[in-house]
Amino acid sequence: MEHLAEERGKPVGLFDSGVGGLTVLAAAVQLLPAEDFVYYGDTANAPYGEKTKEEVRTLSVRIADMLLNRGCKAIVVACNTATSAAVDLLREVLPVPVIGMEPAIKPALAGGGRVLVMATPLTLQEEKFRDLCRRYCPDGDKIAILPCPGLVELIERGETSGPEVDATLRKLFSAVDLTGVSSVVLGCTHYLFVRDALRRLLPPGTKIYDGNYGTVRQLQRVLEHNNLLRPERERSGNVEFLTSGGRPSLLLFRQLYRLACAKPVLP
Ligand code: DGL
Repeated sequence: MEHLAEERGKPVGLFDSGVGGLTVLAAAVQLLPAEDFVYYGDTANAPYGEKTKEEVRTLSVRIADMLLNRGCKAIVVACNTATSAAVDLLREVLPVPVIGMEPAIKPALAGGGRVLVMATPLTLQEEKFRDLCRRYCPDGDKIAILPCPGLVELIERGETSGPEVDATLRKLFSAVDLTGVSSVVLGCTHYLFVRDALRRLLPPGTKIYDGNYGTVRQLQRVLEHNNLLRPERERSGNVEFLTSGGRPSLLLFRQLYRLACAKPVLP
């Protein structure tokens, strides 16, 4: 019993290439306020989406090991790209539960019309993503994809609105046919930071989906199932930020985390 209480008292680890996973962290803190969280942003190696699968696997295993050494009881891969490239491997090698991201294609398709998935080049080329598309849309006719090189770098600099963001999004959208598109799926955790800019650019009524709530609900289920959920209802947990990018990244993390927390993240 004592052992279980000790396990439950450990933190949950989350990681991303940089600031994107802060949007997942904000949702996790909202859903599970009693838990402690350790967030690692690999800003020195961002973006992941333009690296090879092998590079992202190596970085992911290294970070997960570090989070384990800090005593994490579960790991959330708060990055679609690292999930696509490495979640299976992490599940094989880690002794704790691993929760990944999934682009919210299923709920978006349920809304009818065509769905546009915005994600990093690596996520979109991975088998995991293709499998997901085949599962929910075997003919492929309802799903369009938009790789967004450059967008993560902008957000990593703290740019979440303004002329540069609008110009980058406009340029990306000029490459895609939006006819019949009634929803957009954010298949990268960074993109939630430019959701308002996207809303202004997309035709009115276009719905925007992300996978954050699904992921943190899955975290809650997995912790419950493994008897790892902190029982205290009144407690407010701690959040610790770690980064490979030094102090400037930490300052940006705090600023963007506040921004992520200010948006309604849970339905
Ligand atoms: N937040 C990561 C994702 O969800 C960004 C990937 C990158 O660093 O390019 O895919």
